[in-house]
Amino acid sequence: MTGNCRAGSKRKTPGDEADSDLRDPRDPRNPGPPLLGGLRSRQPDPGRLGPPDPGVSADDYFRHLYDTEPDFVQLAKQDPDFKAVLQPNGHLDFTNPAATMQLTKTLLQADFGLKIDLPDDRLCPPVPNRHNYILWLKDLMDTTSYEPPGRPLCGLDVGTGASCIYPLLGTRQRPWSFVATDVDDKNLSYAQRNIRLNGLESRIHLVPRNPDDPLIPLDHPSVKQTPIDFVMMNPPFYASPEEMMSSAQQKSRPPMSACTGAPVEMVCSGGELAHVGRLLRESLDLRDKVRWYTTMLGKLSSLEALVEQLREQGVDNYAVTEFVQGRKTRRWALGWSFGPMRPAEHAARGMKAAVWKKLLPPATATDLLELPVDAPVEPVIARIHEAVGGLELISWSWDAGAARGLGRASENVWSRAWRRKRLREPLQQGQGGVQDASPSQHPAECRLGFEIRVVMGKVKTSVDLHWREGHDPLLFESFGGFLSTKLKENK
Ligand SMILES: C[S@@+](CC[C@H](N)C(=O)[O-])C[C@H]1O[C@@H](n2cnc3c(N)ncnc32)[C@H](O)[C@@H]1O
Repeated sequence: MTGNCRAGSKRKTPGDEADSDLRDPRDPRNPGPPLLGGLRSRQPDPGRLGPPDPGVSADDYFRHLYDTEPDFVQLAKQDPDFKAVLQPNGHLDFTNPAATMQLTKTLLQADFGLKIDLPDDRLCPPVPNRHNYILWLKDLMDTTSYEPPGRPLCGLDVGTGASCIYPLLGTRQRPWSFVATDVDDKNLSYAQRNIRLNGLESRIHLVPRNPDDPLIPLDHPSVKQTPIDFVMMNPPFYASPEEMMSSAQQKSRPPMSACTGAPVEMVCSGGELAHVGRLLRESLDLRDKVRWYTTMLGKLSSLEALVEQLREQGVDNYAVTEFVQGRKTRRWALGWSFGPMRPAEHAARGMKAAVWKKLLPPATATDLLELPVDAPVEPVIARIHEAVGGLELISWSWDAGAARGLGRASENVWSRAWRRKRLREPLQQGQGGVQDASPSQHPAECRLGFEIRVVMGKVKTSVDLHWREGHDPLLFESFGGFLSTKLKENK
């Protein structure tokens, strides 16, 4: 990856490395995206002192933080150190490493209440891009569990850097703890300082590594005590110091500025593809000792190659997404799991353009039915029960404007073959078939975990099916097709 900070330079190849994460919207050469009408303004709420307390209730605040470009003039009013680097015309010079470093410090303080100290000769992380990774991880982890969102988790940040940015952002938003590794002494000592500055010594544990050690130190004593829920990584991007130098020169900024990072941070043999390849190979041994393995990528070509490798290895449960800040900066992220829990559609298939369809994992959501807004929902729920043959189907829950039914099936109970078999040998109640969703109550094999959502919107009521668990996309498709036909038949 790159820690690019310069505004206005050209991308080399579509889909490959890009430029700064934040641009000045008033810069005519590089205005960033139009400000989106109707989105929450990121002006501080005058009635609130600082960001909200961590937890699911703060998700909305964090999700929309960078929907619009930061208002530099407002930030300068809040922070005299930022005012000192802002030009009188309200522009920020993104070619000046001191200015971009201050922007990172100011955003972390203003938006997250985090303090940070960074050396001049190490990577200075652009906050919105790093924040995007945490937002995606929250979605990935929340939607791949039957537990309510927001439970305590432990993450491993491979190559945390001097900033220790991912653990700082993650602990600020959720009751997460982290093991964070690095191979560079200076990074490790600054990371420790940043952990201390924020009083996070009990939640972020640093583990020094050697370059040839495994990336995932599962045998390390401190890791042995804590099961790892997810691995995250922003890998060194370049394959050689020459590639890094020439990239910095093309962006007209001093090689080895804080924007670029030091070679130890940015270069590894084979570049990011090789580094993530190492992670993939380790994961093939460790399998479900970690629930999700994830990485950020700076090159679309790396994402393509890695998805191919996952498929070759028979890893069917994966998620891809893109992180877009403004119009120019684009990064990708890839996650994979050996477990059966399927991420929600938006987390698994976060790349919008149809051209990337070939990279996407199978869909995990399908529309079943739409009804007029005033149609009662109880008959729909009754029809769903009827459709699956009157079996004790689903545990339903209701929250504002939506009914959610969770079910787990040990086989394709909707197929004609299964129903014929059932007629011949009636099942004992609760044996086989569709089970209550709670895995603790029903530890039996589950081939398809699903959720039916009946959502009463302002203009219509929609009924959707979501794939929650299982490895067989055809089973999910078949169930979706069956339910849709049944619901439409009886409409
Ligand atoms: C691109 S930087 C990412 C830093 C930080 N996570 C961020 O996103 O700003 C890559 C980091 O990985 C570290 N690194 C390189 N090889 C490593 C290895 N084998 N194990 C752990 N960390 C490594 C580098 O020192 C550097 O801090």
